[in-house]
Amino acid sequence: MPYPDIPLPPLIAHRGLSAHAPENTLSAVRAAHAAGVSWVELDVQLLGDGTPVIWHDANVRRCSDGRGRLADLNLAAARRLDVGSWFGDTFLGERMATLGEMLALIDELEMGVNLELKVNRGRDPRALVETALPAVMEALPPACRLVSSFNDTALARARALAGPETLALGVLFEGVSRDWRHQCAALKAYSVHADWKRLKAPRAREVTEAGYRLLCYTANDPAAFAPCWQWGVAAVISDDPACFLGHLPT
Ligand code: G3P
Ligand code: MG
Repeated sequence: MPYPDIPLPPLIAHRGLSAHAPENTLSAVRAAHAAGVSWVELDVQLLGDGTPVIWHDANVRRCSDGRGRLADLNLAAARRLDVGSWFGDTFLGERMATLGEMLALIDELEMGVNLELKVNRGRDPRALVETALPAVMEALPPACRLVSSFNDTALARARALAGPETLALGVLFEGVSRDWRHQCAALKAYSVHADWKRLKAPRAREVTEAGYRLLCYTANDPAAFAPCWQWGVAAVISDDPACFLGHLPT
């Protein structure tokens, strides 16, 4: 498959360096960069007015000083939220990042991104893909981006918009399904992203032996993860990648 040549590092910071900064913020990406981590995983969704923003949950309660559904906010309302102080006083005044701002920062820092198209319940996967995908493809070169999703419709729409030579697509699984092979072939997938706690060696080896990159999320215990590297894991997505230093396969 003519995929882009992606120099994927073995460690990717989950939602930015989310162990040390508020997840999915510009600060979390700057923190990853400062820690020497060159790739981040981030979630993208649309506000109610169609603006793509970097956010994980369906609502804003957990990670801001506000309440309510993301889908009910326009950009002005989203910008009024403080999305930093829930994590710590140092981050007081942090604002929700738009996708455009985040891509500009990643480009400026010469980092790479695994952008997860996050389709929460009731949201429209097509609108998300049609807004977010052109933005990421315009902002970053193919070697610096990997787009993933749990949502089949989002993945299929993304593949319809861009071929495998320009867009690396990752299929996200909680447990890697029995028909993973069919799904990945149909999508011309580049990678399989699996919850490492639900992954067993035989399925992991099937994936890597079939030529797909295997990314494991969200691993924060390098000792427990150590045997899994033998499966041919390409990268670990971790809240705190620095804890893996000294525990990487040689
Ligand atoms: O992309 C890996 C991981 O982020 C998927 O789960 O819920 O943290 O977005 P979640
Ligand atoms: Mg995610």
